[in-house]
Amino acid sequence: MAQPLIAILAGDGIGPEVTNAARQVLDALALGLAFEEAPVGGAAYRVAGQPLPPDTLALAKRADAVLFGAVGDPAFDALERALRPEQAILGLRKELGLFANLRPARLFEGLEDASALKPAVARAIDMVIVRELTGDIYFGEKGHRVTKKGLREGYDVMRYDEVEVARIVRVGFDMALTRKRRLLSVDKANVLETSQLWRDVTNEVARDYRDVTLTHMYVDNCAMQLVRDPGQFDVIVTGNLFGDILSDQASMCAGSIGMLPSAALDGEGRGLYEPIHGSAPDIAGQGKANPCAAILSAAMMLRHSLHMPEAADRIEAAVAAAILGGARTADLGGTMTTGAMTEAVLAGLG
Ligand code: IPM
Ligand code: MG
Repeated sequence: MAQPLIAILAGDGIGPEVTNAARQVLDALALGLAFEEAPVGGAAYRVAGQPLPPDTLALAKRADAVLFGAVGDPAFDALERALRPEQAILGLRKELGLFANLRPARLFEGLEDASALKPAVARAIDMVIVRELTGDIYFGEKGHRVTKKGLREGYDVMRYDEVEVARIVRVGFDMALTRKRRLLSVDKANVLETSQLWRDVTNEVARDYRDVTLTHMYVDNCAMQLVRDPGQFDVIVTGNLFGDILSDQASMCAGSIGMLPSAALDGEGRGLYEPIHGSAPDIAGQGKANPCAAILSAAMMLRHSLHMPEAADRIEAAVAAAILGGARTADLGGTMTTGAMTEAVLAGLG
């Protein structure tokens, strides 16, 4: 990688504000990165009539990594599904083969009071949710039809094949090897055939990972345990839909959805990095958004796609220092603007 090219797809709502903050932090580190921007989501629909224009997709494919903001705009909720902003992120994941979604959730020291949980319970949170991202009910056959009785019916097929399950479960096991050597697979095998296959394949893959202790949990129990005792979790591997829901839940347990980054990886080093919060249209353009999730996503990009782990460590340490020093945006119970929070992180870069 001579000069790594980063595609910046800021998108909708608070996407541009937080992506800009992440860009400032990357610039401050002077890593010799090149940046190119392109519209995505509702912003792209406005200028190009579609949420994922060919030029945007081409840039994402050409780039070494994608730094993504958020998509979603209530103005476009009534459009046919293919034209809605959310299709952009789903299309990017599918087109780039980004099947492995890493969503780390940990409680930053000092944020105990921001958590929806008791401080003593929240303090123990340090987990990674490994979510499958290109299969499941998201991408199965779906549509609307009319039943024999003449009723309108909507349907979405949940499905996985064994190759799709095995490759994400391996990502989970590999992650577990770098942590506490414990992997929890979350499914709904007591009801769903898709989950039964998931569980069978997971047990088969486990034979290649004798050093990792594998356990299984039903998703409803997992949702309950996440608020009861989240400290029990280390690495969780799960499907697309369950991972979507559990990662939002984990984020609030850890203080704020404004703190959680994510990586979507293709297994070969290429990735798309995005805060797990959405476009937050209610606060867009007001300078209130917490930029930490986007900044931490940039750190994940440096670690997973650009082989710059020291720079990633510096960013993560700077965010931790800013939080410990009392920097707080509104979601964390404070009054700082996006700009002030970014300054606090920049100051911590040293
Ligand atoms: C996420 C989001 C997306 C998803 C939406 C915007 C399509 O909720 O990344 O978690 O459901 O995957
Ligand atoms: Mg989600």
